[in-house]
Amino acid sequence: MAASEQLSLASRSVFYSPEESTQSISYPIFMSANYQYAGDAYDQVVDGARRDVNIYSRCGNPNEYKFDDQMAEIEGADSALAVASGMAAVSHAVLGLLRTGDHVVVDLTTYSSTHEFFDHRIQDFGISVTFVDSSDVDAVRAAFRPETRALYVETIANPTMKVAPLRALADAAHEHGIVVICDNTFASPVVCRPHEHGVDVVLESATKFIGGHNDAVGGIISLRSDILPADWLEQIRWNTLTKLGGALSPFNAWLLLRGIQTLPLRVERMSENAQKLVAWLDAHPAVRRVYYPGHDAHPQRALAAEQLDLPGAMLAFAVDSEEQAARVCKRLELASFAASLGGVRTVTQLPATMAFLDIPEEERVSMGITQGMIRVSVGIEGIDDLIADFAQALEA
Ligand SMILES: Cc1ncc(COP(=O)(O)O)c(C=O)c1O
Repeated sequence: MAASEQLSLASRSVFYSPEESTQSISYPIFMSANYQYAGDAYDQVVDGARRDVNIYSRCGNPNEYKFDDQMAEIEGADSALAVASGMAAVSHAVLGLLRTGDHVVVDLTTYSSTHEFFDHRIQDFGISVTFVDSSDVDAVRAAFRPETRALYVETIANPTMKVAPLRALADAAHEHGIVVICDNTFASPVVCRPHEHGVDVVLESATKFIGGHNDAVGGIISLRSDILPADWLEQIRWNTLTKLGGALSPFNAWLLLRGIQTLPLRVERMSENAQKLVAWLDAHPAVRRVYYPGHDAHPQRALAAEQLDLPGAMLAFAVDSEEQAARVCKRLELASFAASLGGVRTVTQLPATMAFLDIPEEERVSMGITQGMIRVSVGIEGIDDLIADFAQALEA
């Protein structure tokens, strides 16, 4: 782990060393696809040097390396590898780890594209999948088979805000040499650092809180594991990333690196706003239920308090019907009605009819997703303005 571990997360997020040749505090953008084999670079590459020598931007580039290192720093990881999107992080990590004949245990309520990746795509490669409710550690244990190679969960599940008991899951998996992969997107490293709870591989859609401004798409895979080899991510880079091609562009790496610098500040404000919005929604007569890890009625309130540094920016609430939910989202003026999350602006989404539309209703209901559910990614706006916006939208 990085030497500056004793510094606070805020300091580690804001600081990175300047670029050496220019001492530029803002890391320059190396907008080049191709690099010359100058000096002894050719001989070094022939001798097996990889990340130390720039070759071709699909294999890695200086901006990606800088972003990798900074992400490892704030995840408390030994190493990190950036890729083109959050889904590229999911697919590259899973396809890099699993082989035909392997079995993977996956939480039932993951992000919709992740669920479909496990429900369909991955099985085309002869990998079998069992879906379980990962909040039930005994059910997870019961799903393990001799050929189980990985357990896949989300720190805070999209959109039900279910919290995965990471330490108990890691202990159960590690007894059998099973690798734990956790998508930390809904939390961000400010809310939770799953490596600290025993998770081997952490994934983030950097598009969300890391970038934070609804502009760049990217993903990150980080590693801290006693099971996987120390160079596992470099193996992924050379055996999977360069073959599947999900490389992160230098410009997006630059934007995401810049995003890290204000990540704690943004997420702290968002989490503060979310708590106030939850308290207000809770008292509103049209709101049937609020889903939030910091809510007293959250079924895993104690676990959330123990595992999460903050309750976070993501919440959901239920109104009576899909029609009513759509009306509320359309009437919001300050908050945007849109697909993504984690940016500085508040965004609402209807999980049942947007992200999870392709998943059959029966399955959606078993995941806890109802028609009247509205997911909110709370931004950094003035909370009084935000509450006034929700008040006028819910009034109708
Ligand atoms: C929890 C979670 N994981 C992964 C992803 C995929 O990220 P991306 O859109 O960057 O591919 C998303 C996207 O919404 C998400 O919500």
